[in-house]
Amino acid sequence: MNIIILGVTGGIAAYKAVDVARQFILLGFEVKVIMTEHATRLVGPATFRAITGNPVAIDNFADTGAPIQHISLAREADLVVVAPATANVLAKMAHGLADDLLSTTLLATRSPLLVAPAMNLEMWRHPATRSNLEKLRERGVFVVGPESGSLACGEEGEGRMSEPARVVDTALEILGMGGSLAGRRVLVTAGGTREPIDPVRYIGNRSSGRMGYALAATAKRMGADVDLVSGPTSLEDPGGVETIRVETAAEMWEEVKAIAPACDVVVMAAAVADFTPARANAEKIKKEGRSGLTLELEPTRDILEHLAGSRTPGQVLVGFAAETGELMQRASRKLREKGVDMIVANDVSARGSGFDSDYNKATLLFADGRVLDLDRMPKEELAVRVWQAVLAMLEH
Ligand SMILES: Cc1cc2nc3c(=O)[nH]c(=O)nc-3n(C[C@H](O)[C@H](O)[C@H](O)COP(=O)(O)O)c2cc1C
Repeated sequence: MNIIILGVTGGIAAYKAVDVARQFILLGFEVKVIMTEHATRLVGPATFRAITGNPVAIDNFADTGAPIQHISLAREADLVVVAPATANVLAKMAHGLADDLLSTTLLATRSPLLVAPAMNLEMWRHPATRSNLEKLRERGVFVVGPESGSLACGEEGEGRMSEPARVVDTALEILGMGGSLAGRRVLVTAGGTREPIDPVRYIGNRSSGRMGYALAATAKRMGADVDLVSGPTSLEDPGGVETIRVETAAEMWEEVKAIAPACDVVVMAAAVADFTPARANAEKIKKEGRSGLTLELEPTRDILEHLAGSRTPGQVLVGFAAETGELMQRASRKLREKGVDMIVANDVSARGSGFDSDYNKATLLFADGRVLDLDRMPKEELAVRVWQAVLAMLEH
């Protein structure tokens, strides 16, 4: 697992560092936070501790068990990110000052460094800051931002820290993990479908759409052109993703059929109804005068099977198997019978994962017989694992 050391310094944008830490964690990184004393006056270390699951390092001389804390942190980092970076820490880095834990670690590390400056416009424009930044760039330090906009001090101009997503994307690029789906077009389906019984009632399922939305957002972040065909959910459209909303399994098929042929990858994460009422009543079915109600259901089209039958050369096809028992047998049967490249199998009856949860516990089954049993993890992290597996198949 890659380790990110996240340095947080005493700027107003320290609150944004919380989201930076969170996004790294969701992508599967281990994050260790070093705060300056001033940063702790703006955001509490407990927030970072809770988000990262690691103690927050602040004091050079604290007894942490590590013999020399700044050296162990400096050595284990794959990347050190300072966000926000104050004018002060940039000056210290430029001149090699090492008077607290963060600046000492920054001097001791040989890992790549990324800074996200954030400060008042005049501080940013100051010749001292300009020349410090020039020095850092010459030395190979990566810089993201700052951006223009309204600043906390009430002024308008350059000095805002880049948004967390931009900081994280830049870090991924530095680590050689960004844009790996660049130039690829992918289609993701998400959510459940609603099969109408009459104008007010439908047969639905418990899918929240979160897994599919996480897959779409992650693919976008990894550089892909993403189409998302979604059943009804309460989720917002993921930024930069072409999102098409549908209701029924038949509508989902129409959209998928039109988009799939142009895609390098299709991931069917939607929980599509297997059965639909043979007839939807034009009027609301009345209760009066009935002792019961029998609905006649007919099977819907098997989208995954149809896609497998008409796939374009080199196209990677991924299905999901949400089961409540005999998970592995059913998932491997689905893999074989439908002719897809990979099945993401998850037991939706397991506590604390699956439908309507932020977590998932899944097993990846591949057409070549490999089986990868994953731990319970946030859906965003599982999305990264799925795309990594897809990438390996695309490059094969
Ligand atoms: C409320 C508040 C907000 C601040 N925001 C910034 C900022 O955005 N950028 C900056 O360079 N300094 C900012 N400062 C000043 C720094 O906190 C100050 O220069 C401090 O010495 C930085 O220490 P550090 O780099 O060790 O965290 C702010 C100070 C306060 C009190």
